[in-house]
Amino acid sequence: MSVGRVADRYCLNPGRPRQTWHVVIETDEKLPFKPGDSVAIWPKNHPEQVHALLDYFGIAEDTSLAHGKEMVPAGELFSERIEINRGPKSFEGYDLPTFLRTHYPKGLPIEEFQGMPLRPRLYSIASGSSFDKKELLVAQAQYECEHGMKQGVCSYYLTERAPIGKFDFSVSMHSPRKFCFPSSMPLIMIGAGTGMAPFRSFMQEVEIGSISCPKAWFFFGEQQEEYDYFYRDFWESLKERGRLRLDLAFSRDQATKIYVQHRIWEQKKELWQWIIDGATIMVCGNAQKMAKDVDSILARIAMQEGKMDESTALSWLRSLHHENRYMRDIY
Ligand SMILES: Cc1cc2nc3c(=O)[nH]c(=O)nc-3n(C[C@H](O)[C@H](O)[C@H](O)COP(=O)(O)OP(=O)(O)OC[C@H]3O[C@@H](n4cnc5c(N)ncnc54)[C@H](O)[C@@H]3O)c2cc1C
Ligand SMILES: NC(=O)c1ccc[n+]([C@@H]2O[C@H](COP(=O)([O-])OP(=O)(O)OC[C@H]3O[C@@H](n4cnc5c(N)ncnc54)[C@H](OP(=O)(O)O)[C@@H]3O)[C@@H](O)[C@H]2O)c1
Repeated sequence: MSVGRVADRYCLNPGRPRQTWHVVIETDEKLPFKPGDSVAIWPKNHPEQVHALLDYFGIAEDTSLAHGKEMVPAGELFSERIEINRGPKSFEGYDLPTFLRTHYPKGLPIEEFQGMPLRPRLYSIASGSSFDKKELLVAQAQYECEHGMKQGVCSYYLTERAPIGKFDFSVSMHSPRKFCFPSSMPLIMIGAGTGMAPFRSFMQEVEIGSISCPKAWFFFGEQQEEYDYFYRDFWESLKERGRLRLDLAFSRDQATKIYVQHRIWEQKKELWQWIIDGATIMVCGNAQKMAKDVDSILARIAMQEGKMDESTALSWLRSLHHENRYMRDIY
């Protein structure tokens, strides 16, 4: 396990209700990576919630508590070792202090408390592997719940709480086997929101010549061009120099929503030709919405342009997937 620090950060769309940040991290040892890899980060919980837990149990920060086979100070246990936002189904809509106060109003003895181990959060690396520092594109996660607005632990830790320049968190590399960029093949990249990240990493590598890509096409979607077109200059420069074909879908710049799959459908003939010519398709971003709709639109294109019936189109898509010509990193 390595130790990491936030070296720099800034908001890419300040003032927006849902902010996305550029976060630069450094690690104490070199962690080699390739485009498509992610970092796994163990964040620290919000100090207010840590204090709420200490108050609830009526213990001090330095009270020694058992955590598995170890003895750990209570402050460290609540800050770094247990989940505050995630838990079993009965936990939905609560953070841990609220859950305990609601379900055990008379107090739960600390000996009976068993927290869920804190899980690392993954973030796709958004910069080329030649750089010592790793750049991340982090959307602040906030969810409206019965008990008010909840802030995501890690996204807020990285964008607001982690001290700049101080080694403060554990980090490791995560290299998904099923999200490996091809070399010397045409590439179709589809991403919404933070799903842009691995494609920026890849195109930075192409720019410096460490990966070859005969032709690349990027479909990117976000809410509003004026605020949410992250790294605009980089993408526009690639497009102007003929290094990249670019189609943008800004969902909230007009009365009706336009998403990446609408842009894909508009370009279906040419896109189909790219696929016939051997292009690999890579998708990154929201699993619940975007990735499902992109999947459906690709099947529809196969039906219309490839003259397949629905079940043939679906098995064609599955075979692309098995051949690693249709890869997804979705969350
Ligand atoms: C392979 C991979 C790559 C990723 N890459 C990136 C990236 O590049 N950039 C990025 O910003 N994120 C990325 N993520 C997501 C990231 O790992 C975290 O999940 C995200 O930042 C939220 O973590 P958090 O700790 O801030 O929120 P948490 O503290 O985990 O809070 C989330 C809380 O909200 C609740 N919740 C979740 N969804 C809902 C909902 N719809 N309604 C109500 N409550 C809900 C959960 O139950 C949980 O309690 C990636 C994920 C994966 C798996
Ligand atoms: N931070 C939060 O509060 C929040 C909110 C939503 C999701 N999330 C989660 O956070 C992760 C990253 O989110 P993100 O900020 O990178 O971007 P995102 O929420 O995925 O949004 C990026 C773009 O995708 C659009 N979109 C919505 N539904 C779509 C669909 N069915 N098909 C195609 N595009 C669609 C959005 O449009 P519209 O927004 O105009 O519909 C927006 O323009 C995801 O896992 C997501 O589930 C977080």
